[in-house]
Amino acid sequence: MKAYVLNKVGGADVLKISDVGSAPVGPNKVRVQVQTIGLNYAEIQSRKGLYGWAPKRPYIPGMEAYGKIETLGEGVSQLQVGTPVIVVGQFGCYTEEVVVPVSQILPAFENFSPAENAAFAVQFMTAWVALFEVCRIRETDRVLIQAAAGGVGTAAVLLAKALGCEVFGTASKDAKLDLIRQLGADHPINYQTHDFVEFIREKTGGQGVDVILEVVGGEVFRKSMEVLNPFGRLAVIGFASLNLNKLNPFSWWKTWQDIPRVKIDAMATASQVVGASHLGYLLKDTERMMRIWGDLSSYTLQHGLKPIVGHEFKFEEMAEAHRLMESRNSQGKIVVHI
Ligand SMILES: NC(=O)c1ccc[n+]([C@@H]2O[C@H](COP(=O)([O-])OP(=O)(O)OC[C@H]3O[C@@H](n4cnc5c(N)ncnc54)[C@H](OP(=O)(O)O)[C@@H]3O)[C@@H](O)[C@H]2O)c1
Repeated sequence: MKAYVLNKVGGADVLKISDVGSAPVGPNKVRVQVQTIGLNYAEIQSRKGLYGWAPKRPYIPGMEAYGKIETLGEGVSQLQVGTPVIVVGQFGCYTEEVVVPVSQILPAFENFSPAENAAFAVQFMTAWVALFEVCRIRETDRVLIQAAAGGVGTAAVLLAKALGCEVFGTASKDAKLDLIRQLGADHPINYQTHDFVEFIREKTGGQGVDVILEVVGGEVFRKSMEVLNPFGRLAVIGFASLNLNKLNPFSWWKTWQDIPRVKIDAMATASQVVGASHLGYLLKDTERMMRIWGDLSSYTLQHGLKPIVGHEFKFEEMAEAHRLMESRNSQGKIVVHI
């Protein structure tokens, strides 16, 4: 079978297709014939050697995919061959077939296309945990979503608007603002050309927002804290702007400076809550994940939500798909079809 095996870290050119043997299907595992792969920013970071959750090389990257069950391992009675499913994990999905434990299999949505099924799990679960579990979002909240036109960002805008919140969404290019508006956000902002702190103060009559989803880090994190209201909650779930060059000491210092940090005394004075979450821990905690999946799936069906698939590539074009995500020009989710 064909797969992308990461042998060395580097630019998108290190992504090359190899022929690899099929893994055996052990007890409580299944083999899934992959149809569509969903891309995630963590895969850019792990390709560069900057992702702490990546396994030791060589390994097959890829956190999620949609496909059909092809083989059941011993002891698997709750699933059937041919059933369409979503696979989630930390790695292993850039391939024609993947063998995973049953705990990494989620039911596919009947009303979603293959691309939408491959686009849903990681980014919607991440956005859901940040907004509903960490920030305990309520319908009366004013919400700020950073990088709102991205995969997690579009999911977060859809989830917050379905609740009835007033939503501010940032992006680095005017071309992305239309999408943020189409998703229902009330206030799209280009945070490269406008000071989002001033913009929010103006729109809120000098106040700020109650909930912030922060994925960028550096100056964007520091300024986000300036617009977080008393009793406001901010969830840090990523630092997309951090770009460590291990050979350049200036880059070490810049990276260290741009990692989000808070002072508890300042938070106490301002009465603010800052939290963080990582999907990796959810994937290790099946009970918690299934509870969250249940809540998220019901909410998604109840509100008729679907992930925004912005770009579709062929399997041979994985490097191009990575380059697009790194370029900051992507909108919504990038998927790759086998
Ligand atoms: N904690 C978790 O478990 C978890 C899970 C999934 C994702 N995440 C994080 O959530 C964030 C979004 O992930 P995603 O997969 O949905 O990707 P994405 O949002 O589709 O793509 C990344 C976006 O980050 C923004 N960005 C800001 N500064 C950047 C920079 N210097 N270089 C590149 N991009 C930059 C860009 O949007 P603009 O140019 O419009 O700013 C870009 O489009 C990432 O930080 C990721 O690590 C965390």
